[in-house]
Amino acid sequence: MTLQIRSLEQYHEAYRKSVEDPEGFWAEQASTFVWRKKWDSVLKNDFVTPDVQWFIGGKLNITENCLDRHIETRGDQIAIIWESNEAHEPSVKLTYRELLAEVNKCANALKAQGIGKGDRVCFYMPMIPQVAIAMLACARIGAIHSVVFAGFSANALAERIKDAQCKMVICSDYNRRGPKTIPVKSVVDEAISMGCDSVEKVLVYKSTGGKVKWDPNIDIWWHETVDNMGAECQAEVMDAEDMLFILYTSGSTGKPKGVVHTCGGYMVYTCYTFRNVFQYQDGDIYWCTADVGWITGHSYIIYGPLLAGATTMMFEGVPGHPDAGRFWHVCEKHRVNQFYTAPTAIRALMAAGWHAPEGYDLSSLKVIGSVGEPINEEAWHWYDEKVGHKRAPIVDTWWQTETGGIMITPLPHITDTKPCFASYPLPGVQPVLLDPNGVELEGNSVEGLLCIKYPWPSMLRTTYGDHERCRTNYFAAFHNMYFTGDGAKRDEDGRYRIIGRVDDVINVSGHRIGTAEVEDAINQHSGVVESAVVGYPHDIKGQGIYAYVKAHSEVVDEDHFRKEILDVVTKEIGPIAKPDKIQFVLQLPKTRSGKIMRRILRKIAEGQTDQLGDTSTLLNPECVEELKAGALE
Ligand code: WTA
Repeated sequence: MTLQIRSLEQYHEAYRKSVEDPEGFWAEQASTFVWRKKWDSVLKNDFVTPDVQWFIGGKLNITENCLDRHIETRGDQIAIIWESNEAHEPSVKLTYRELLAEVNKCANALKAQGIGKGDRVCFYMPMIPQVAIAMLACARIGAIHSVVFAGFSANALAERIKDAQCKMVICSDYNRRGPKTIPVKSVVDEAISMGCDSVEKVLVYKSTGGKVKWDPNIDIWWHETVDNMGAECQAEVMDAEDMLFILYTSGSTGKPKGVVHTCGGYMVYTCYTFRNVFQYQDGDIYWCTADVGWITGHSYIIYGPLLAGATTMMFEGVPGHPDAGRFWHVCEKHRVNQFYTAPTAIRALMAAGWHAPEGYDLSSLKVIGSVGEPINEEAWHWYDEKVGHKRAPIVDTWWQTETGGIMITPLPHITDTKPCFASYPLPGVQPVLLDPNGVELEGNSVEGLLCIKYPWPSMLRTTYGDHERCRTNYFAAFHNMYFTGDGAKRDEDGRYRIIGRVDDVINVSGHRIGTAEVEDAINQHSGVVESAVVGYPHDIKGQGIYAYVKAHSEVVDEDHFRKEILDVVTKEIGPIAKPDKIQFVLQLPKTRSGKIMRRILRKIAEGQTDQLGDTSTLLNPECVEELKAGALE
């Protein structure tokens, strides 16, 4: 089993070793897994091309490490507990033995449909055990999963299916989210009708039993195929550097990109970080509330916990259903030991005061985590006092889709915690802060651009189908560095505090949204000439979306036009990208070279109209007064 740090001394020792001898350090971790063939060399370190490889020549299958190797020691232990959207419905529990059988059946079904090693399979699924089963089934046969969050629109889904040329889509009939039932299959049908010619089959799991449109040429029911398959399936032998999955995420420019993770390094790193960050002990019940459509769901609901032989919970619903006490009710019901959620959920539940966690028994909690966006001080203290009872430390974990696993975090009961600080790098992680010229800021009490200067096993390897994009996005800004896109501070003791994105990415309720994507969507409206989108502080969501829109002609009915714009964004991307505020403008502030000056738009959106700075270099300085006058509260 992966080694676990249990004291501050051991943390320092592990960290020192990971920097002095990174290859030795990670080889020691890797040797705790089952390999079909041991690696020939540990690392290829090229941050320039970039070409980073870990455990080169090693052969393995990640599912043998998630499942088969546990059968002897913990075959009857619960692997997954599933909690329904409806509080009164019974939970579902799958043991490791049962999960392996289900995964094998699904893997056999995929093979029978012609899916094999290297094929891409798109997922558009609710949070039900079948999503985990099917992801692992792909990994079992060497197919590459590309999970798309089921809140994205048909357009957004189609774009991702086409980019990865997926051969199959796996979905459910419907998706229950709180009081709503969302017609998942019909979104998939619509996406496929948009020219997704690569898709041969759609595998549909009957979740609610609602009516769906059926095309017998491509649609197949899960219960008619998977359930009839044999429960044995040889795992495909994968190279450590073979692709495990693609996950699309937003950047500052263009369309979302497919971040690529590979088998070996991702396995070693997610297991190591899971064991250490949550200090998971045998018998604990671990619950991460993320959706599997995001990296947190991949690494810390499925792979990390199962690799570590943990009991991981999956929750179908939303925090406010049937009321704002649901999270606490579930923690109490299952005696949850580690609870991992996002600041936006904490803030929303904090605001719903009367369902405060006091009414629930949360004494089982040993560690509580936060991820996805900066946690503000008020929310941190509320979480610490009301949920953790100052007994269960908060692990404020900083990481990204691209990093694959947690990078900077306190270690509970080992390193100290400080409100809003993600604090210290994990062993193997070498963060640096740079000034805008790329000069490293040495020492403590500094603030700069957060970069990582040495490879770690679960880092992205490329962006699917476009390696140059990976290079320019992450490795070209500063020589020999991975650039995170975040700004950070280092305090007097060397703890890191993440300030937020320094690029044109906004973080809405912990979801990354590229301003360019939202602008492209808004511009699809025939009445729009151009638009500019910025983030602004939002009490619950962390950041809200503020759009400035220039229309072709005078806007007579602003409310009606706003609604149409929201509809376009919902159609192009999905409801999560809908602007919170839309200001109609006659002009956008432009530089003499024709670029929109976003700094000014950001300040106005933030309500800091007295801090616009120098506006004299604008091509059209007269627009500033108009922008200020029309600013929305
Ligand atoms: C932000 C989510 C502050 C950050 C795992 C990063 C955070 C982006 C934290 C990645 C944190 C994530 N404190 N900010 N603890 N965790 N972020 O790819 O801006 O969805 O770059 O991965 O979220 O978002 P992603």
